[in-house]
Amino acid sequence: MGVRGKVAVITGGGAGIGRAAALLFAREGARVVVADLDRDAGAATVEQITAEGGEATFVAADVSRPDEVRLLVEATVAAFGRLDILVNNAAIYRQGNAETTTEDDWQRILEVNLTAPFLCARYCLPVMRRGGGGVIVNVASEAGLVGIRGQVAYNVTKAGLIGLTRSLAVDGAPAIRANCICPGTSDTPLVAAAVARQPDPAAARRALESVRPMDRLGRPEEIAFGILCLASDELAYATGAVLSVDGGYTAQ
Ligand SMILES: NC(=O)c1ccc[n+]([C@@H]2O[C@H](COP(=O)([O-])OP(=O)(O)OC[C@H]3O[C@@H](n4cnc5c(N)ncnc54)[C@H](O)[C@@H]3O)[C@@H](O)[C@H]2O)c1
Repeated sequence: MGVRGKVAVITGGGAGIGRAAALLFAREGARVVVADLDRDAGAATVEQITAEGGEATFVAADVSRPDEVRLLVEATVAAFGRLDILVNNAAIYRQGNAETTTEDDWQRILEVNLTAPFLCARYCLPVMRRGGGGVIVNVASEAGLVGIRGQVAYNVTKAGLIGLTRSLAVDGAPAIRANCICPGTSDTPLVAAAVARQPDPAAARRALESVRPMDRLGRPEEIAFGILCLASDELAYATGAVLSVDGGYTAQ
């Protein structure tokens, strides 16, 4: 795939989909910057990439903070001299409808899931342009395409991220591409934690599987492959694209 030799920043690369993407990009020859709040998790991803013979570095960052995003971009340039691909993957999930979501939760979910991708784009774009162009892949969700019950703030941020993708695409062309993936519920720590909070976790998991035609959860590696495709040179004509990888959930 056409990411060989490229420098890719992957936010939330310490776990789940972000880790799977970091490993896959490195296997495909990209030089990977794993950015994560969680130092142990991020370092573990880098260790695994290095053990496989890939090239990666870890930068501790809360990507919702402009100062830390600026440092992340500086660290990337210091490590690899350029920046070609940004994968806005880090996000948080909390349940609640409009009556039960606290204002603090609303604020924090917006900061991490929507403001952070904007900030990362804002600080990465000038460096990408200096290098001749680049690609941004935003990790949205099926929740950005349909209203999923009891998660109003998360739904809103993912719908907003699809909008951000389209703006980045039209403003950035032709040098900058921006695409978006909308994963369905997948087997990651985020989902494991949400399921574990339910009164009957096994039944909750089964319910998540059975609402989709494929009758199973996604695998992080499957989502990572979609991210890789959207970032790859082979798909150079795709910008503003929204790719569903959700076991058919939004096709119903
Ligand atoms: N797992 C799913 O079912 C699913 C479905 C649709 C969309 N998604 C999206 O995929 C992406 C990855 O989800 P996941 O399930 O792998 O999540 P996860 O919770 O398993 O991993 C997220 C990673 O992001 C990091 N992170 C969180 N906040 C951060 C911040 N402010 N700064 C830097 N790092 C931060 C965490 O430390 C963690 O390592 C998210 O955007 C999520 O919304 C996931």
